[in-house]
Amino acid sequence: MDSPAHLPVKRLADYRPPDWLVPAVELDLSLDPERTLARARLSVARRGAHDRPLRLDAEALTLLDLLVDGKPRPFAPASADGELVLPIAGERAVVEVLVELRPAANSRLMGLYASGGMLLTQCEAEGFRRILPFPDRPDVLARWRVRLEADAARFPVLLANGNRLAAGQLSGGRHFAIFDDPWPKPSYLFAMVAGDLACRRDRFVTASGRTVDLLIWAAAGDIGRTAHAMDSLKAAMAFDEAVFGREYDLDSYHIVAVRDFNFGAMENKGLNIFNAKYVLADPATATDADLDAVAAVVAHEYFHNWSGNRVTCRDWFQLSLKEGFTVYRDQLFSESLGSAAVRRIEGVRALRASQFAEDSGPLAHPVRPELYAEISNFYTSTVYDKGAEIIRMMAGRLGPERFRRACDRYFAEQDGRAATVEDFLAAMAAEGLDSGLFARWYRQPGTPRVTVSLRHDAASGTAELELVQANPRAGPDAEPLPIVFPVALFAADGTLLARDDGLMLRETRTRIRFEGVPSAPVLSANRGFASPVIVAPRPSRAALSILAAHEPEPLARYEAMQQLMLSALIDAVAGDDAGFGEVLLAAGRVLEGWADDPAFVAETLLPPAEALVAEAFELADPPAIHAARERLRRALLAGLGDWLWTIWHACAPDGADRSGRAKGLRRLKGIVLSLLMARDDQAATAAAFGHYCDAPTMTERMSALVALSHSNAVERAEALQRFHDSYADMPDVLDKWFQVQAASTRPDTRAAVERLAGHCAFDPRNPNRLRALVLGFALNQTRFHDERGHGYALLSRHVLEADRLNPQSAARLVQPLTRWRRLVEPFGGLMRAELERVAARPGLSRDLLDVVTTGLR
Ligand code: PHE
Ligand code: ZN
Repeated sequence: MDSPAHLPVKRLADYRPPDWLVPAVELDLSLDPERTLARARLSVARRGAHDRPLRLDAEALTLLDLLVDGKPRPFAPASADGELVLPIAGERAVVEVLVELRPAANSRLMGLYASGGMLLTQCEAEGFRRILPFPDRPDVLARWRVRLEADAARFPVLLANGNRLAAGQLSGGRHFAIFDDPWPKPSYLFAMVAGDLACRRDRFVTASGRTVDLLIWAAAGDIGRTAHAMDSLKAAMAFDEAVFGREYDLDSYHIVAVRDFNFGAMENKGLNIFNAKYVLADPATATDADLDAVAAVVAHEYFHNWSGNRVTCRDWFQLSLKEGFTVYRDQLFSESLGSAAVRRIEGVRALRASQFAEDSGPLAHPVRPELYAEISNFYTSTVYDKGAEIIRMMAGRLGPERFRRACDRYFAEQDGRAATVEDFLAAMAAEGLDSGLFARWYRQPGTPRVTVSLRHDAASGTAELELVQANPRAGPDAEPLPIVFPVALFAADGTLLARDDGLMLRETRTRIRFEGVPSAPVLSANRGFASPVIVAPRPSRAALSILAAHEPEPLARYEAMQQLMLSALIDAVAGDDAGFGEVLLAAGRVLEGWADDPAFVAETLLPPAEALVAEAFELADPPAIHAARERLRRALLAGLGDWLWTIWHACAPDGADRSGRAKGLRRLKGIVLSLLMARDDQAATAAAFGHYCDAPTMTERMSALVALSHSNAVERAEALQRFHDSYADMPDVLDKWFQVQAASTRPDTRAAVERLAGHCAFDPRNPNRLRALVLGFALNQTRFHDERGHGYALLSRHVLEADRLNPQSAARLVQPLTRWRRLVEPFGGLMRAELERVAARPGLSRDLLDVVTTGLR
């Protein structure tokens, strides 16, 4: 993502170490939603020999007092915005500041803000400067001591990072608590919470025998739904000890659930703050997928304690150093919980849907960007998920033992420091990785394409494979990447003829010869999705059918089935449905295995999403894609209907069973139901409604509701009404009600979304609700793209409204409008015009302007 010319940018090349360090901070917050006073003493120390002033970042602060070594310093204007520049004569000084804050009026959810009656902070990436003038950069690590003071009745619970040293009552109904964090940390990891919260307590004994108190805080009525989060936390702690040798390092670990939060969760040292939807989840109110997401996010934030907190980032260009690595770590954790293959399939599907799409659009950027205008816009799928894929490749090259040693080395060498991607690569290199090559992956935007061609010579019984890599998005001179690329050759009857598991492409062009290949083989390339690349050309449907039937590697078999459906869909978009026959045959064979591996069958049978089909076209035609996919679904129903009904009746998982098998059965049953509902049919509708009413868990309830949501049956309205009435007082569950209606393929969906935006439970200040309804609609490929551009206009109205409240939220919401270059007319032109209207609006936030101007280029 190159940044707009008229927004100032920061460049990696301009990085300079800090001139001044802050060895210690004492912060005293006298809390009140209307007027909070923040008083701080910063001990500052000159770093190196220079005469440059101390520079403190400050944003939207009302500064009341400023002293250096006890002497008042003039400051003008009273509201410091941007930077405070303080010339200091000596080598050390004490800077004292007094700031006034208005948390109740802070709708950005950055800095100190209010949510559901509590007060809390969010500082990553650059939020601390909205609390205090400070060198708000990750390479300034301080020892923190924090005192909180608040009304004891309204805010009985006071929390901050580290250990609580003291607490007590004060006059006037107020109370206080003092905290000390022994681990030096940058300002983005600071956090505090004050509120009327209940808590679930547990404990964990570390490998070296220390007892850690675990506390999950939420509103009293929600505590019952925090058991799964607690179990996940304990499992994650045990996993990090067993697999990475990482122990926890404080006496207590807190997780706080909040309703209003911009992201998923935040890894503040010892005091994680979570979007409530990643804490509150039990089988009655959350689907299996939600429960898995909770486990993954809890683990992710916990793993940050080492990859992020003990070793932090030198600057924000290094964001993937902590995020990509931590995603890889949380993926390993999730893969250890159930079927690793199914987990990986879900991960690869998500990567294709979000990261490949990002990399092929205007917001594409390297995993380590070289410049940015607004760092908040770089918490992307590329930094997180592609970053994780790079680490996965490196780990695969090294193998588990050497990778573990390399990680140990990285943590040991960098502990307590602010590190770079190079530091990580150096640790990998010390264990023998060709890290100079892998460094290239961090520098190039775009998804590389590997073009394969296979020539078979029957006379000599040899096959010659040629592989050519290209990454046009990275420019003509882009260096070739190290592409881990396992391949295998199969005979038409499925016999494995040859394989190369260790193949890695290093050059633009690679040739390999296979001996002992008597008949024309079928190639299975990039087996196991070893590298995040696109393989071209797509194999013939005959070849894909062979692989879908015989590939022993589950991910490769899944891929073959998905590619087979994709190939048939691409032809169908052009009006030729002839490929459906081969899909039916292959799908029938896949279905035979449903009782053995229901989860795998479910994933494999689900036709590729419309957005994914769109990615296969230079210019996509969303209504034609939708129509083609609907015809495929109906063909599957027509050809396999009896089978599907048999499975529907036979598949009866126990609602209390959370095993991989039971989850797989529920998933399969949901996908079978969606296929049965491919036509508005009485029997299917009745089955769906019955499934809704008798659902033992939210997983069944949601698959029934989703299936009904697209239909015209009377049961649809009835199910929606019941859902609303059952969950009206559970915001995280009610979000599903908004989202399901926004995602409906019915022609009246846009009107429904307009109506829901006026519903008394819709609140654009709440990011979860806004996303459920408005992003839910923008991702609805069928109804977002209408021929008059009304869907785009609806989105831009919400974006502009959101921008006045919460720029980060607006900057994410607008992203579907940046896809205009990849759409046929009239959609492309209408979308571009809408984006231009947004860009032309005066007074846009920096966050939003950054995305829209980049999106217009
Ligand atoms: N660092 C958080 C995570 O990935 C994400 C986050 C970024 C949360 C910015 C809040 C604000 O775990
Ligand atoms: Zn993270």
